[in-house]
Amino acid sequence: MNFTLTEEHIAVQEAAREFAQKELLPGVIERDEEQRFPKEQIRQMGELGFMGMMVDPKHGGGGMDTKSYVLAMEEISKIDASASVCMSVNNSLVCWGIEQYGTEEQKEKYLSRLATGEIIGAFCLSEPEAGSDATSQKTTAIDQGDHYLLNGTKNWITNGNSSSVYIVIAQTDSEKGHRGINALIVERESEGFVVGKKENKMGIRASDTHSLMFTDVKVPKANRIGEDGFGFKFAMSVLNGGRIGIAAQALGIASGAYEFALQYAQERKAFGKELVQHQGIQFKLADMATQIEAARLLCLQAADLKDQGLPYAKQSAMAKLFASQVAMDVTTEAVQVHGGYGYVKEYHVERLMRDAKITQIYEGTSEIQKIVISRELIQ
Ligand code: CAA
Repeated sequence: MNFTLTEEHIAVQEAAREFAQKELLPGVIERDEEQRFPKEQIRQMGELGFMGMMVDPKHGGGGMDTKSYVLAMEEISKIDASASVCMSVNNSLVCWGIEQYGTEEQKEKYLSRLATGEIIGAFCLSEPEAGSDATSQKTTAIDQGDHYLLNGTKNWITNGNSSSVYIVIAQTDSEKGHRGINALIVERESEGFVVGKKENKMGIRASDTHSLMFTDVKVPKANRIGEDGFGFKFAMSVLNGGRIGIAAQALGIASGAYEFALQYAQERKAFGKELVQHQGIQFKLADMATQIEAARLLCLQAADLKDQGLPYAKQSAMAKLFASQVAMDVTTEAVQVHGGYGYVKEYHVERLMRDAKITQIYEGTSEIQKIVISRELIQ
């Protein structure tokens, strides 16, 4: 793999960095504190092309490669992981899912608006009793001829209250196991659909995480993605790509914390010299920078495989597994470098440390990534 970034990659990276510094940094502490969704900033991200980066321009997207997406996700996540999870779900799970597997009619109706950020979307797989064990769907989509009747509850749904379009995974025929599951596009205005309670979270507090309730919601057959029974495979497929996005988010959280720690260590004096002049701090910075570099290479490798049309499920799980551990390690060390200041809100690193944790949980826990990786190893 060639790791040299093209001029286009560097331009995307710089645009994302500038946007994050100018538009996301001011107010990020307050939004986290008040659990306030960055609505205006997400609108701006749509205008800049960050909400549908890989979608074909004929459907309103940026037509970019997955490496560009990784680079942009890293820069946005350095400052605001609540904004970047919204971006990741919209790009990887919703837009890519519809573009890859949707009908022309679905693309025309939903994709252009999702890719430009005019509307955003959510991906609804997790349930109160089906998180890691995704085949155990209790939500049902019963075939009624020209439509499905959807009933059930979804939990921990990112963009839960801010979306206009929801891709809902539901069981149509329990006897068929994972082959009896469908993926349906549900519009927010559908009768019988209710947005439930907002989660009060440890991290990514400004992101909009809700439970969702569906009671006798009629979903037209035209809104099913793929053939009857393709829903579980659809979910697995979009999650393979989604994990590259979350790996890049974890990478960004780590590199953001590292940059804050480096800056602090260059400014703060202790025992008569700047912190960076102390070998104990130098060793920490060297370890952090090395871990980040390794995580970045794994993210870019997974992205490159996807761009080349080669299998990437194992590499995306590896990138997520490794980068999320790096995010935990580096943010913890960044707090340590800051000492007491690291433990208070003004210095950003405590927020990044809280944000890091979710990258080991959503789109499959670290244990799930190990299942995905080891299955490929022992095939
Ligand atoms: N890629 C492609 N296909 C896959 C796959 C993958 N990663 N994993 C499984 N499949 C396929 C299998 O090949 C199999 O197909 P066949 O029957 O044709 O052979 C089919 O799917 C069923 O596979 P399994 O029998 O292996 O299924 P399982 O019940 O043992 O579960 C699992 C496999 C990997 C544990 C899966 O359940 C899983 O990934 N769970 C985690 C779910 C998850 O990530 N949830 C996150 C929620 S979304 C979210 O967090 C979004 C957000 O808000 C940020």
